[in-house]
Amino acid sequence: MRPIVIAIDGYAATGKSTTAQGVAELLGYLHIDSGAMYRAAAWYLLQKQVRHIDEENLPELMSSFSLDMERRGTEMLIYVNGKLLRDELRQPEIGILASEVSGIAWLRERLIREQRRLGEKGGIVMDGRDIGTVVFPQADLKVFMQADIQARVERRYKELIAQGIPTTREAVEKELLERDQRDETRPISPLRRAPDARILDTSHLTIPEQIAIVTKWAEVLIYAPSPS
Ligand code: DC
Repeated sequence: MRPIVIAIDGYAATGKSTTAQGVAELLGYLHIDSGAMYRAAAWYLLQKQVRHIDEENLPELMSSFSLDMERRGTEMLIYVNGKLLRDELRQPEIGILASEVSGIAWLRERLIREQRRLGEKGGIVMDGRDIGTVVFPQADLKVFMQADIQARVERRYKELIAQGIPTTREAVEKELLERDQRDETRPISPLRRAPDARILDTSHLTIPEQIAIVTKWAEVLIYAPSPS
């Protein structure tokens, strides 16, 4: 039995993070939500009243940005300059700014270094956009999650309403499509399916079904006899 690296990439609102957390709990692995790291950078900028990225001023603005991660069970807690961030990171405006921030090369490099360090010993499930292509191209299991737009809108809409964030399905659809477009077309680390990733279409799956499928794929690798 060996601790493997599981990379889950895919489109926003396909259930990546919830699936990754569920798989991590079943396997006793650590879940790292790499999107939350980009969201943490965006949260920091919003505190500084920045709403649109001006690349030239960014190094100065981010000079006192400090990101700390602390393992708690199978979860990774995120602190920015000592403040624990949880629901704050799920706000739609943070998602939009995170998508902009994630196109900045030096910030990506900094976060990718941190992601590799967190995953170097294996026993992790990391979800994001470039985990199987850039962060861990040697990951033991790569999953690419997709779903049709209506299923994604419904999922994100319900999530936001449950959090008490007022929105409409039209606004959610617009935001998701814009984010897909930006994530797929940015010059560095664009959202792409790794050629060796397994596709998981979640349009008609429940979260427990998604978790069960990925866990089964992982267990086949974890319990495979090691090559002699
Ligand atoms: O998965 P998410 O919605 O929390 O991610 C927020 C943004 O961060 C997303 O629009 C793109 C960016 N991101 C990225 O560029 N690379 C990752 N590995 C994870 C997220």
